Amino acid sequence: MKIPDPISIHPLPAIEAEITVPGDKSISHRAVMLSAISNGTCHIQNFLPSEDCLATANAFKKMGIHIENPEPSTLIVHGQGGNLLPPDSPIDCGNSGTTMRLLAGILAARPFSSTLIGDDSLSRRPMERIITPLSLMGASLKASGERNTPPLHIQGRSLPLQAIRYQLPIPSAQVKSAILLAALSAKGRTTVIEKIPSRDHTERMLRHFQVPINTFNGEISLTGGSKLESSDISIPGDISSAAFWIVAAAANPNSHLIVRNVGLNPTRTGFLRVLIRMGASIREYVQSSNSAEPSGTIEVHGSHLQATTISGPEIPNVIDEIPILSIAAALAEGTTTISDAAELRVKETDRLAAIANNLKIMDVDVQKTHDGLIITGSKKLKAAQIDSYGDHRIAMAFAIAGLFASGQTTIRNTACIATSYPSFFQTLSFLQKSNSQ
Ligand code: S3P
Repeated sequence: MKIPDPISIHPLPAIEAEITVPGDKSISHRAVMLSAISNGTCHIQNFLPSEDCLATANAFKKMGIHIENPEPSTLIVHGQGGNLLPPDSPIDCGNSGTTMRLLAGILAARPFSSTLIGDDSLSRRPMERIITPLSLMGASLKASGERNTPPLHIQGRSLPLQAIRYQLPIPSAQVKSAILLAALSAKGRTTVIEKIPSRDHTERMLRHFQVPINTFNGEISLTGGSKLESSDISIPGDISSAAFWIVAAAANPNSHLIVRNVGLNPTRTGFLRVLIRMGASIREYVQSSNSAEPSGTIEVHGSHLQATTISGPEIPNVIDEIPILSIAAALAEGTTTISDAAELRVKETDRLAAIANNLKIMDVDVQKTHDGLIITGSKKLKAAQIDSYGDHRIAMAFAIAGLFASGQTTIRNTACIATSYPSFFQTLSFLQKSNSQ
């Protein structure tokens, strides 16, 4: 089903449903990348067939990796033990920062040169965060856009990279992952130090591919030269996609929602703890913890939410959920403060500005600060015309806001939703229909 543009949203009296969400975006990227550089054939189940993840798959196809796609969410990747062919033109990463930054880590140690490009949004995003550590490893790369933005040019090299010990200046799973992927081809033992933990999917998946990797006390170490043993992967549902429906149910006292087969990696579930602090009734049931990634069921009973504070070490864990948590704050009683979240200014759009502008249009009392938002909740949001600013999470968060508005809300510029959740609108229609029966 095509995503309509604009999307019209009507108030939803309650949610009473059981749903699943498509495969996790972060894990889908890593599944393709590690399979492609592994030593054999890997079957990937529940791959997310979104534009971002397809950009990653297309990048490896362009470098000679045979990838079969018998069904939209099944990939069979024929790894070539790290041998890739030189791309005959720039690799298009589309809207996906994860594709560009992680791929740079892999390409930094190849014997051929490559150029990574992206759409307008990705072309405005900072790349010095990966250029600095990869250059310390001996890689030669530069960003030719203004202020170290893409295109990213990576020079080929035949000698291995050098291992480094590197403390991340900002908590970022993309930067950590780029270094770890480069470290696979480095001489010696690389250690990445993170003061605040970020999502650990790369570490878990490297282990799944039999790469010895140590994590202790915020230090992640691996020695270059390990071969990746091909392995099949089953990807759980994306908890960041589930977050939209979880907030829609949690903020409505008449709602009851069950989400099945969803990822429950603790480096991603921080927003559940924020909602519970706000008074939400949420339970997690971990069903599979012996695979690379824990997964299970989330059950939500709606209630009246209360304001909270979101700041400090909690931020990296909830970074992608701040847009939808801002909607929860707009529906809660009291004033919620979000701080230490300046990273949101360099996501697919300046998310702090986009959230503040759109909440104001819905008549919510909101103040933007240099690194966060101060939001005072109101019982009813004003129906409005909302722009997504080309950012998928802004479009979906405000679609959920529309479920709580006084009349019909429209969301313009919705094509971006296909970067992470192409079937979002189907689930929305399903919930609206099941409510009217
Ligand atoms: C991601 C890491 C996060 C997150 C992004 C996906 C990943 O970015 O916001 O949506 O898959 O590694 P940062 O590493 O920039 O924090």
